[in-house]
Amino acid sequence: MEKIRSGIIGTGFIGPAHIEALRRLGCVDVLAIADYCAEVAQKKAEELYVPRYYGDYKELLADKDIEVVHICTPNHLHFPIAKEALLAGKHVICEKPLALNSAEAEELTELAQKSNLVHAVHYNLRFYPLMHQVKQMIENGELGEILAVNGSYQQDWLFYDTDYNWRLDPKFSGDSRAVADIGSHWLDLVEFVTGIQVEQVCADFAIFHPIRKKPLKAVETYGSKVLASSDYEDVPIDTEDYASVLLHFNNGAHGSVTINQVAAGRKNRLFFEIYGAKKAVAWDSERPNELWQGRRDGNNEILLKDPSLLHQYARDVVSFPGGHNEGYPDTSKQMFKKVYECIQAKIQGHAIKPEFATFESGQRELMLCEKIVKSAREQRWL
Ligand SMILES: NC(=O)c1ccc[n+]([C@@H]2O[C@H](COP(=O)([O-])OP(=O)(O)OC[C@H]3O[C@@H](n4cnc5c(N)ncnc54)[C@H](O)[C@@H]3O)[C@@H](O)[C@H]2O)c1
Repeated sequence: MEKIRSGIIGTGFIGPAHIEALRRLGCVDVLAIADYCAEVAQKKAEELYVPRYYGDYKELLADKDIEVVHICTPNHLHFPIAKEALLAGKHVICEKPLALNSAEAEELTELAQKSNLVHAVHYNLRFYPLMHQVKQMIENGELGEILAVNGSYQQDWLFYDTDYNWRLDPKFSGDSRAVADIGSHWLDLVEFVTGIQVEQVCADFAIFHPIRKKPLKAVETYGSKVLASSDYEDVPIDTEDYASVLLHFNNGAHGSVTINQVAAGRKNRLFFEIYGAKKAVAWDSERPNELWQGRRDGNNEILLKDPSLLHQYARDVVSFPGGHNEGYPDTSKQMFKKVYECIQAKIQGHAIKPEFATFESGQRELMLCEKIVKSAREQRWL
């Protein structure tokens, strides 16, 4: 079977992770990359062994050989690139958040729905095998009615006031930072596994560093370079470092989530607990191969990821036997496998139901983010 030819736009952190996942699939030819200038694109193409490179994403979109585009740029570019890619007839896999706001996301969703193209948003965390297991357990009624869901998503990479990134500037990241950047993963994952939807939110925000020190020159490695105070400029910060959100779900369940990017020692920890009328489950993304199951009458258990112990639905996203841990890079591989099966089907003239986040899910996450930001500003339930 012929390989599908793809192009990746943006080659910072997540772009190369997409490339690695696609190469592990085998059915995709990563034909080209694009970055903001030819020099950077050439250097990255050499490092990543990609045959074609472009210093402008429009050139990649004009490449007739490219069938699928992965958008891995800062958030403000997702809307224009996704729109132009769909209009150029390319299937699109866009990083989260889908756009800067829900109006942009709505336009993209309408355009994607009118096209006969596959569209996806990279909510990859759904593809940890144990997340598919929880979804199937809840669908089977093993937890009973869902009563409460709580958890957090916490990181420490913005701990110091000298930590700086484009995500701190709303021009590039949107009006919400922590919620849109990582809270949206939590919300998407919890809605995916439980099958219930957030209906009302009441949010409390904090900015722990209202002034941050933005480096005046490029800093390659924070650890190996000490900057003098004259190398920084003070910039005011107006997006949240921290959010706590009370949640009401559409089945009557209650919940809460705390999102924090200034949480010492939490490298990248998404955690949730789901309490049902029969039993509970809890999961920590820093120990992704273990699922806690809690019971009132009887022993609590830890289920270890092992295909022979999982429901068929979860087994479908497992590549390795028990004891051979699967982690973050595997989630993108498993997600792209599903996305490219859909693309292959389209190419062959038929359609299969997407089993991943589409632009509709991306639009929903932005709508929830906007409500959470508004709720924090107005200090009330929405
Ligand atoms: N799904 C996930 O788990 C996950 C993880 C990390 C990042 N992301 C998302 O991926 C996106 C990128 O994040 P990142 O951490 O890789 O950022 P990054 O800053 O490391 O990389 C961004 C890349 O985009 C390039 N770029 C900037 N302007 C460009 C332009 N005009 N044309 C082409 N390329 C351009 C940059 O040069 C850089 O290579 C963000 O939207 C982020 O939310 C998702």
